[in-house]
Amino acid sequence: MQLGPDLEALRERADAALARVLPDGDQPPLELHRAMRYAVLGGGKRLRPLLVYASGSAFGTPLETLDAAAVAVEMIHAYSLVHDDLPAMDDDALRRGRPTCHIAFGEAMAILAGDALQALAFERLAHDDALPVQPARRLEMLCTLALACGSQGMAGGQAFDLAAVGGSLDATELERMHVYKTGALIRASVRLGAIAAGCTDPLRLEALDRYGHAIGLAFQIRDDLLDIEAATDQLGKTAGKDAAARKPTYPTVIGLDASRRELARLIDLALEALAPLGGDTARLRELALFAAGRSY
Ligand code: IPE
Ligand code: IPE
Ligand code: MG
Ligand code: MG
Ligand code: MG
Repeated sequence: MQLGPDLEALRERADAALARVLPDGDQPPLELHRAMRYAVLGGGKRLRPLLVYASGSAFGTPLETLDAAAVAVEMIHAYSLVHDDLPAMDDDALRRGRPTCHIAFGEAMAILAGDALQALAFERLAHDDALPVQPARRLEMLCTLALACGSQGMAGGQAFDLAAVGGSLDATELERMHVYKTGALIRASVRLGAIAAGCTDPLRLEALDRYGHAIGLAFQIRDDLLDIEAATDQLGKTAGKDAAARKPTYPTVIGLDASRRELARLIDLALEALAPLGGDTARLRELALFAAGRSY
């Protein structure tokens, strides 16, 4: 399953916004800036920026006000992939159809590129002039992003993931690992779009949280399934890596059929959550289906 033309155009918007805010590769420190650009540009589905745009635009806000959050979540994501691929973590050589950042630039530069991307993400959210929100809302956005990538979010999930290598998890532990390592940033992307659009209605924010939680978990279940079912050239990353690294995944813990059923259940939940939202939720609906049905 591919993105439709409307989301494809937004994906290009995210690419352009990222290219603008990343440091110039001709400015020193050259290697670091080139590694940062390499890690972010030239590939990626841009799901997280798309969720920012989809969520914010459901409240009718102009896309310009959403660019800062869109680039921030993607820079955090790109940093997480650079570190995820390092020898000390998943030790992967292929990402987005190209050598991973540490293969291209060396481990030290890849670590620094991740560090600097994380800092730049927060700097953009803090300073972007096109984001018309009050300081208190901007702080809420910064806090939302910080929570999603810290020890109660992505980094915490990666710690659970590494601790589980070669061992076994029960279904509850597995769900927690996925919700943390992948779900938290996806859920934050949805919430950031809404806050940037000025949404303060707790009921709507709660509905969006339910949507984000469901598609975030679904997205990682799909990732686990694709690792088994898809080919390396289709994924742009090495297929079969989870089994080779003895990682507990949805298919290994609950089985292939139950994983597919869980995926379908989560997408139903996500779509149901959108019902009371009002506004134009077509993009959010399409992204829920894409999270579950993507083939890459
Ligand atoms: C890969 O993320 C890592 C996970 C959290 C599953 P994506 O599948 O979004 O990777 P890109 O950004 O499209 O390369
Ligand atoms: C990655 O999960 C989650 C992150 C926080 C980056 P995976 O390790 O399954 O992602 P891939 O399969 O390498 O893209
Ligand atoms: Mg990993
Ligand atoms: Mg990995
Ligand atoms: Mg994976």
